[in-house]
Amino acid sequence: MPAATERRGTPQAEAMDRMYRLTRHVYDASRKYYLLGRDRLIADLDPPAGGSVLEVGCGTARNLIVAARAHPRARFYGFDISEEMLKTARASVARAGLADRISLAQGDACGFDAEAAFGRADFDRVYVSYALSMIPPWRAASAEALRLVAPGGRLHVVDFGDAEGLPGPARAAIRGWLSLFHVTPRSGLGPELFRLAGLQGRVAASSALHRGYTQYHVVG
Ligand SMILES: C[S@@+](CC[C@H](N)C(=O)[O-])C[C@H]1O[C@@H](n2cnc3c(N)ncnc32)[C@H](O)[C@@H]1O
Repeated sequence: MPAATERRGTPQAEAMDRMYRLTRHVYDASRKYYLLGRDRLIADLDPPAGGSVLEVGCGTARNLIVAARAHPRARFYGFDISEEMLKTARASVARAGLADRISLAQGDACGFDAEAAFGRADFDRVYVSYALSMIPPWRAASAEALRLVAPGGRLHVVDFGDAEGLPGPARAAIRGWLSLFHVTPRSGLGPELFRLAGLQGRVAASSALHRGYTQYHVVG
């Protein structure tokens, strides 16, 4: 996989490896309390029988495993820029007995050669869960995720929102806490997805969950 291999050693790959080298071991146990909305997204995927589903920035493969169990007739794919995260992902997928239905690769959300990594150019469903808030060129990554959606398919995105429904001090505390993890909620994400959808003649829908703590978008 030459395209994927070239991405190792980029500043973003190194930053993510540094962040997750140790924390990947406690990631799934800790994140379930604050990465809200992931299971709603997984339930909404509803891929066609025999369909394909790709997660961009799949981390530990927690979502892929839940999704593969929820949608047993689909085939799943995931990539991440961090080889450290992928170590946990590969072990978890094998432990779950799902290695025949979940394929993993290393790659960058801003430019991913799906054909080289997985032998297919596009997917019936593509989703991005709490990754765009960690990717500085998130607009490029959003466009790339949409490019990977097959005709008639859908893109689902869940991430931190602006928490507009919470009091100011709570919002400031959340922002400060997230910045410790290199996380920046993307307040322009909804408008950007609507813009990208419009360029392709697609439709987009957005919702704010948990008083805006979570933003959720679907482009179909
Ligand atoms: C907060 S974790 C979310 C993991 C998973 N999607 C979840 O919901 O549990 C963000 C993930 O995005 C990955 N990531 C960051 N920048 C990336 C990039 N440019 N391309 C691909 N993955 C990236 C990180 O390595 C990390 O695994």
